[in-house]
Amino acid sequence: MLDDADRSDEEDVRLATAPFQADFPYEREDEAQVTRREFCNFLGLTSAALFLGAGGFAAKAALDARRSESHVAARIGGAELLAPNSSLNFNYPTERDSAILVRTADGAYHAYGQKCTHLSCPVYYSRDQQRLECPCHEGAFDAASGKVLYGPPPRPLDEIEIEIREGEVWAVGRNLARG
Ligand code: FES
Repeated sequence: MLDDADRSDEEDVRLATAPFQADFPYEREDEAQVTRREFCNFLGLTSAALFLGAGGFAAKAALDARRSESHVAARIGGAELLAPNSSLNFNYPTERDSAILVRTADGAYHAYGQKCTHLSCPVYYSRDQQRLECPCHEGAFDAASGKVLYGPPPRPLDEIEIEIREGEVWAVGRNLARG
């Protein structure tokens, strides 16, 4: 309930704001409609932005997943003498890049960068388990694909592309695995 003093304050305010209300009329109904329309527009734009953003990330991930590098081919010395179910270390594509060549029990050759994709410890080939293992945090990779078998590594090993040229094993490129 308004007493005289309150009523007088309200009237003072109404009187003071009356000219502004005449100059800038405002209907609650209109405001609600605009707000709903704006909200719908906002939702539409936000959805479109999210859709485009997700599409961009997916496209980038797909490109990154098969990013390959060309390097000068290099013969892997001694590879042709490697017995099945064993490995040897070499460097590729530069002397600073340690790599590992694995000859799996079926006689096929596979080569990978030796850095674990978790925190870069060097992996080794376990003949008993027939897989590549990382000693630092017990990660393991499939010897034939480089894919993570278990442990903390977030992605497969980088793959070194190899070719057999007249009985010799050559490293001819590198595929940087992502994701
Ligand atoms: S560095 Fe290989 S599992 Fe952590």
